[in-house]
Amino acid sequence: MEVRVLFVCLGNICRSPTAEGVMRDLLGAESLEQRVAVDSAGTGSWHVGSAPDRRARAEGARRGVEITGTSRQVVVDDFEEFDLLVAMDAENAAHLRAIAPSQDAAARVVMLRAFDPATPHGPDVPDPYYGGDDGFADVFELVEASCRGLIAELRANHLSE
Ligand code: 4NP
Repeated sequence: MEVRVLFVCLGNICRSPTAEGVMRDLLGAESLEQRVAVDSAGTGSWHVGSAPDRRARAEGARRGVEITGTSRQVVVDDFEEFDLLVAMDAENAAHLRAIAPSQDAAARVVMLRAFDPATPHGPDVPDPYYGGDDGFADVFELVEASCRGLIAELRANHLSE
């Protein structure tokens, strides 16, 4: 793998597994799945060992994207394993920067919405956990637009021709 990307949210059951599934789907469509590795993790530990939230899985199924995985908490070693740590919201990004083992590591923390060309709702992917199904549709759309932008960024700055 040329680039390794870790998506990070709070619980690792809603937003970051959605980003992981959407990114894997888009990478496959562009024949980049052998060049870019993707994984996801949460800053919190409440849901460790759980599958993605059924509402996230249902939203993926509606759109033909499989949302899978088992929740795990982010660890300091993730800064060794991944080139980019992509946070869903500002709180997740602050947590990652706080545990980063070096300034170089902290500089590899980015916000997913930084790659969204539209950014109509601000820089965060809003936490959908305590809301309704609309929140999951919203998350999916923000994540998809951002992942397309992230792939463009990877092509421009992280992948050789
Ligand atoms: P996620 O959503 O961070 O997108 O996976 C959440 C899941 C669980 C909780 C919060 C957010 N929780 O507080 O349990």
